Amino acid sequence: MNATVIDEELRGYLREYYGRRLQHNGDLTEQACCTDATAARHADTIALLPDEVVRRHYGCGCPLPEDDLSGLTCLDLGSGAGVDAFILSRLVGPEGHVHGIDMTLEQLEVARKHAPAVARAFGFERPNTTFHEGFIETAEAIADASIDLVISDCVINLSPRKDLVIETIARVLREGGELYVSDIVADRRVPESLASDPRLVAECLGGALYLHDFLDLLRDAGFGDPRIVESRVLQTDVAGEPIEFRSVTVRAQKFAQPLDRRCEDYGQLATYTGAFPRCPARFRYDDHHVFERGRPTPVCRNTARMLSETRLAKGFQVTPPLRHFGLFDCAPRPVASDAEACC
Ligand SMILES: C[S@@+](CC[C@H](N)C(=O)[O-])C[C@H]1O[C@@H](n2cnc3c(N)ncnc32)[C@H](O)[C@@H]1O
Repeated sequence: MNATVIDEELRGYLREYYGRRLQHNGDLTEQACCTDATAARHADTIALLPDEVVRRHYGCGCPLPEDDLSGLTCLDLGSGAGVDAFILSRLVGPEGHVHGIDMTLEQLEVARKHAPAVARAFGFERPNTTFHEGFIETAEAIADASIDLVISDCVINLSPRKDLVIETIARVLREGGELYVSDIVADRRVPESLASDPRLVAECLGGALYLHDFLDLLRDAGFGDPRIVESRVLQTDVAGEPIEFRSVTVRAQKFAQPLDRRCEDYGQLATYTGAFPRCPARFRYDDHHVFERGRPTPVCRNTARMLSETRLAKGFQVTPPLRHFGLFDCAPRPVASDAEACC
């Protein structure tokens, strides 16, 4: 059997799983596709969404950046019944737009059916969402370099061609645009006994990548310095196999000029101005960068570029590089620690 046939079999199985077998998140049999983070952070918006949409949320994290997203053009890969896409549509406002892509018609129909009522509930004259039938490996409906922000919630693990998904993200993003995805990863390469179990694949565990393979995939596609925003343990020791599955939220930007391979010290300082309405006192960029309003903070050149060559520039004053002082101590917290995870 060639790879295409296997892919078609998997797609058919997943469509059946998400289209017919699962009717709401109470039907899930594992602890993977269920997040509280989005409900906690966006309760006011979720309260405006139809029950049918909320009950079909199968996300594992909160792939919604906390800065000012107004006016952005966004893409939600594997948008399902539309929960994240709708929350994002409120965050980008009537001047912005959110595209969703999913291959399962039953999921798309829920999102499409409710889009006009959701727009009215947000006070918009017309929907600023478009839900496309398609595959996240190609996203054919989306033009090159047309997107400011790509999100995805618990979907990339389901793809048998994760390399193509990441290449597609790189294709559709504009320069300075951002990938901000929540997905499930493992602390080791998933053993064959789990990876070949269709139910575990459909429940987002069997197809999960080893965290460092996932980060390498991003680097190989040109996302030089991916950052972990947050991470939490979902399940350990599945079907007698010693393993730990986590939900991680990762962010990375598209730059024309590559980032440094390591965190290099050019004597730069970044100061958060407090410009993002949802972050009046402090802005959390990733799991080891929290910027207090008004406090100059030393940053490596990569972080300086992330804050000054992207949409985040409107919330930061960043001093220019002085000269090279050697390596910058920018080490992330070990992912094994949950001490500061916020969900
Ligand atoms: C775990 S659900 C997550 C849905 C949504 N992101 C959410 O948070 O509710 C996975 C979704 O991805 C879709 N999906 C899986 N593989 C896909 C692919 N290769 N292309 C497009 N959609 C895909 C499924 O149809 C399903 O709606």
